[in-house]
Amino acid sequence: MEIIVITNQKGGVGKTTTAMNLAAGLGLKDKRVLLIDLDPQANSTSGLGIEKHNINKDVFDFIVDNEPINNIIIETKTKGVNIIPSTIQLAGADIHLSMKNESEKIIFKDSLELIKNDYDYIIMDCPPSLGLINRNALSVAHKIIIPIQTEYYALEGLTQLLSTISLVKKMFNPELTIGGILLTMYDSRANLANEVKDEVQKFFKGQVFKTMIPRNIKLAEAPSTGQAIFDYDKSSRGAEAYLKLTKEVIKWEENNGKKR
Ligand SMILES: Nc1ncnc2c1ncn2[C@@H]1O[C@H](COP(=O)(O)OP(=O)(O)OP(=O)(O)O)[C@@H](O)[C@H]1O
Ligand SMILES: [Mg+2]
Repeated sequence: MEIIVITNQKGGVGKTTTAMNLAAGLGLKDKRVLLIDLDPQANSTSGLGIEKHNINKDVFDFIVDNEPINNIIIETKTKGVNIIPSTIQLAGADIHLSMKNESEKIIFKDSLELIKNDYDYIIMDCPPSLGLINRNALSVAHKIIIPIQTEYYALEGLTQLLSTISLVKKMFNPELTIGGILLTMYDSRANLANEVKDEVQKFFKGQVFKTMIPRNIKLAEAPSTGQAIFDYDKSSRGAEAYLKLTKEVIKWEENNGKKR
């Protein structure tokens, strides 16, 4: 089982779009996937068609009140994908977490151990922050995916993100690696997008996914129908790109050669 955390404290860069559609892509490839929505905005939850009134317990109950993990997992209509949903309730989690002691703060470790044979991949969609929830996610992750939008100020804030990552790695999780930098909302006709692409590739030499996610309106429309891109429009450029990304992610495991 591989735990992938999608993070960037910059808002609106394509974290949720990537979390949902990578999860769906892996499901399409017959993998068993658990998507964990760690954002109080709950965009992954609603984006995969889970409505508020169908959520009994959410990720807050798990993180703050120690609700057993199996009580909060729900099935989605997306092939192969289950979800731990989020609600706005999660916005208050940081203060609760900050009052727990250090050992209690490592919230995910034991729970994820319990379900590790049920899933091939766990994908975590992080909020745009570097708060406690984010650090907890990083402390149990195997790989990080950092989506970067190909626009002005793309690299802004990355220094803080990278130093948080290296701190978590040193203190809690020596295994943690950056699986890939993902360029999102890419428009090959725009000079600026190409400049940003070159800059990112230079900065993160060898760590950038070959797949770039194009700006594609279908990707923005799909969540309002509660569907991943493969169910909404599987012939769109967005679907093609996320399928290519899925294949790159599956390759890690093959290159890795070991089962966790
Ligand atoms: N490749 C794309 N083409 C077109 N629109 C996109 C693309 N990727 C994301 N979007 C749209 O851009 C907006 C921001 O994307 P998304 O919600 O995935 O970012 P995020 O990083 O999760 O944001 P937040 O930091 O608020 O959680 C959304 O409206 C989404 O539908
Ligand atoms: Mg998001």
